[in-house]
Amino acid sequence: MRLRIAEITVLSPGIRKFTLEPLAGLLPAAGAGAHLVFDIPGATRVHKNAYSLIGGPQARTQYEIIVRRVEPSRGGSAWLHEHARIGDILEAKTPQNLFPLAHLAKKHLLLSAGIGITPFLAFARVMRTPFEWHHCSRAEDSAAFAALLPPGPQVTLHTSRNTLNLAAVLGTQPLGTHLYVCGPELFNETVQTMARALGWPESKIHTESFASAAGGAPFIVHLARSGQRLEVAADQTLLEAIEAAGIAAPYLCRGGACGACELPLLQGTPEHRDHVLSPEQRAANKSLMVCVSRARTPDLVLDF
Ligand code: FES
Repeated sequence: MRLRIAEITVLSPGIRKFTLEPLAGLLPAAGAGAHLVFDIPGATRVHKNAYSLIGGPQARTQYEIIVRRVEPSRGGSAWLHEHARIGDILEAKTPQNLFPLAHLAKKHLLLSAGIGITPFLAFARVMRTPFEWHHCSRAEDSAAFAALLPPGPQVTLHTSRNTLNLAAVLGTQPLGTHLYVCGPELFNETVQTMARALGWPESKIHTESFASAAGGAPFIVHLARSGQRLEVAADQTLLEAIEAAGIAAPYLCRGGACGACELPLLQGTPEHRDHVLSPEQRAANKSLMVCVSRARTPDLVLDF
């Protein structure tokens, strides 16, 4: 899809909202929780960044995304903050939804932090079931998030993580409640770990993570089927290195959360950074998620 930037709104020094419109016709309907993967120009390569759509399924004439400038940025969010202008055209894949609402839930419990607010803004437009939403923010962003949150006693903005009594919130929910978690890595892990400890079943815990893959030491990957040898640079992901060679590899979230980019491993030891593979699957050393994982050995050989 090609989308024109129609409006840029500064929500706080580090957070901007982008309103995007189609070049012609209507946009595909995107369910609440859907995201888009954009091609964003960088100094040395095109970055593919995923951003949640905040408008819900009724948004057919424009999409809206909110982008926090990541520090340090590998290029994507920095370009959007510093170089994107109204009228610029962005390329994106059609929306995917890896984070839908559970329609059988008796209640939705939403826990978000920072820019993790975005999928829940779309949820808020469609939720008919009772819900409770706690959003955690740094003090400097709290005014921006307060303006975005829907009004009502079921929504609480916490300006310090300490004000959210996680154990009390997770431990006092009625039967049939589904939990949704979206925020930085540590926040997601903390919430999920406590929920599991309190007996929440996996089927009722839903999480989304678009953490951009961190860099690391460079390494070599061999693609066994084509015989190609690729270098993965320190600030590049394995998936990006494959794409830079002109090879299409599968992906959806690009954040180690969905499992779509799993490729079989023939040789070498990966440094797994995903949230998909179990400890047993990691120990088997048979595959890896190429969007986030790197190498513990100088080379990896993929059956790809
Ligand atoms: S693309 Fe989702 S885990 Fe890699």
